[in-house]
Amino acid sequence: MRDFETKLTERIRRLPESRVRDAMEYSLLAGGKRIRPNLLYAVMQGYRQDPETADDFACALEMIHTYSLIHDDLPAMDNDDLRRGRPTCHRQFDEATAILAGDGLLTYAPQIALQSEWPGEVKAQCTAVLLEMAGPAGMVLGQCLDMKEEEGVTDWEALKEVHRNKTGCLLSAPLMIGACLCGHAEDAEKWHEIGEKTGLAFQIQDDILDTELTPEEFGKSTSDEGNNKVTSVNLLGIEEAADMMERLYSEAEDGIRLMEGFDSAPLISLIEQIRVRRK
Ligand code: IPE
Ligand code: IPE
Ligand code: MG
Ligand code: MG
Ligand code: MG
Repeated sequence: MRDFETKLTERIRRLPESRVRDAMEYSLLAGGKRIRPNLLYAVMQGYRQDPETADDFACALEMIHTYSLIHDDLPAMDNDDLRRGRPTCHRQFDEATAILAGDGLLTYAPQIALQSEWPGEVKAQCTAVLLEMAGPAGMVLGQCLDMKEEEGVTDWEALKEVHRNKTGCLLSAPLMIGACLCGHAEDAEKWHEIGEKTGLAFQIQDDILDTELTPEEFGKSTSDEGNNKVTSVNLLGIEEAADMMERLYSEAEDGIRLMEGFDSAPLISLIEQIRVRRK
């Protein structure tokens, strides 16, 4: 099996050469953890289907996630200089190119998904899930709520709503898409909930690591404090945040073990790796 980096590269190189393609490739191939594609592949394995048949959706997920990072780093949002161990896209290129690289990744993702070899109905269903989770009822909504945190968020319930959308939705998407590709669309809602729990835990962990690591260790700017963000750490305190994170990861794993007709081992093993990450 060719590695995931090669698969991404192949799809990007199908585009005409341009500055925007260079910027898309720069951010995409900068060595992210590839958690969303790996979640999709682990669901394919759990349902005993060939993971490679999900390649187009795996690439589409990583493109949408990378676009969200490029735009998240822009001066108008978190205004960050470091991402995936390199200068952020707008630092390396310029703001206009970074905006367009995000636009390019966002629009190319569903194109790739719809060009896949799955039956029309299946790919329409999965692309709809991808776009719903990414859009203004999902990640984009979460980012919007995140931007007004200081006025908008004063308690944990409200912050959970931000985290559920900005991070949970793009972690639910691979689980739901995997279920739909494997003919288990009826379980999509259960996977949605498992993804939300995983996403909440993942964002709490991101908030904790933002306070504990240096930008060099984290591979990205640690700007939450400087940006006066309301985070799980400053709302709950580090100990309670860490307890909450552990509880949510455990609940997500319990949910996975209960999925019928599903071999949970590969997915649980991936979540266990994410749970102890230090970057
Ligand atoms: C970063 O996501 C943004 C959050 C949702 C916290 P990742 O930690 O998955 O970033 P990469 O893809 O490895 O760079
Ligand atoms: C943003 O959360 C998550 C996205 C939807 C991009 P953060 O702003 O905390 O992500 P990082 O820390 O910059 O990766
Ligand atoms: Mg942000
Ligand atoms: Mg950020
Ligand atoms: Mg963060």
